[in-house]
Amino acid sequence: MTSFLFDRLIGPGLRLLDPEAAHGLTLRALAAGLAPRATDPDDPVLAMQLWGRDFANPVGLSAGFDKDAQVMAPMLALGFGFVEVGSITPRPQAGNPKPRIFRLPEDSAVINRLGFNSGGLEAAVERLKSYRAAPATGRATGRATGRATGLVGINLGKNRDSVDAAGDYATGAAALAPLADYLVVNVSSPNTPGLRALQGRGELEDLLGRVMAVLPAPAPPLLLKIAPDLTEEDKQDIAAVCLAAGVAGIVATNTTIARPDGLRGAAKTEGGGLSGKPLFAASTAVLSDLYRLTEGRLPLIGVGGIASGADAYRKIRAGASLVQLYTALIYQGPALVARIKRELARLLRDDGFDSLSAAVGADHRYSG
Ligand SMILES: Cc1cc2nc3c(=O)[nH]c(=O)nc-3n(C[C@H](O)[C@H](O)[C@H](O)COP(=O)(O)O)c2cc1C
Repeated sequence: MTSFLFDRLIGPGLRLLDPEAAHGLTLRALAAGLAPRATDPDDPVLAMQLWGRDFANPVGLSAGFDKDAQVMAPMLALGFGFVEVGSITPRPQAGNPKPRIFRLPEDSAVINRLGFNSGGLEAAVERLKSYRAAPATGRATGRATGRATGLVGINLGKNRDSVDAAGDYATGAAALAPLADYLVVNVSSPNTPGLRALQGRGELEDLLGRVMAVLPAPAPPLLLKIAPDLTEEDKQDIAAVCLAAGVAGIVATNTTIARPDGLRGAAKTEGGGLSGKPLFAASTAVLSDLYRLTEGRLPLIGVGGIASGADAYRKIRAGASLVQLYTALIYQGPALVARIKRELARLLRDDGFDSLSAAVGADHRYSG
């Protein structure tokens, strides 16, 4: 699909629909093979090796787009270096009452209060198994274009009515570990009561300990996804606990419950998590803090408000080894992925970096 088609026809058409209906239609179109495919091989300067895995490029699809692991192959074929499916809860659940996704087009932002609508673990396991078993129809799509095979991370959530949160994450981790290139414990969605309290020191130690204990060998890397709405003490605790527990990385960040000054969208008073452009500054600050607090020893995935190659580059210089996005895709369409990769490669070379890894955390080194 050309960007012309999306800009003039498909994008405006989808935006006439309720956001959740538009998303459902997009998923069906993707699953039916009606998606554009990236044909250019990724620029070698974008390659990243992490956790013994090869990322052909660092631009990933963040959790929430493909909650039920239905469209991994088409999203990888679009040019993403990796996709993160989920959040997946152990049992299926409907989530909050609709409407629960709101566009703020004036702000290039979205507010959502989905509340982990999920088809549940069993259905996701089946789909991920067939995806892993069928390289000819799935992941090989990337190979045909000369790109390395894309990777699939799996993001874990908990059921709203569950009393044992750690038990839910452990159940998900045990079942999904064999199918994941990496796992994410998501304790940062604002739409499940009590969830973000799991980011506190004691709760987090207990939670990560219980999840680690059930991981089969060889275990995939286990990451933690955090909120942008954290105090300095919260961030220090998270960094210390992650380093001590042997967590492989941190995804920073989820959506924010804050409403930054200057929002113009009529939906700004809706409850839920805000994503997109107005989240960029806060999420990048948290990312940078975590890089400093972990002394660059933990790979970080930077997410929140990325809408251009320059945004991705700023996250990388702040400490991200990989980046992810979701909201900008709603406004800019699939051509965004190629554009970000092209701009990022140019920015790296302009600054004299011959590899992506050399640029990770660069701001911390040059600012003294
Ligand atoms: C509609 C919607 C649903 C989301 N669902 C999830 C989810 O299930 N799990 C999760 O960890 N993050 C979820 N997120 C958060 C995104 O993964 C991401 O962290 C956040 O939107 C910031 O990135 P962005 O500004 O590029 O959208 C969701 C975001 C949106 C907009």
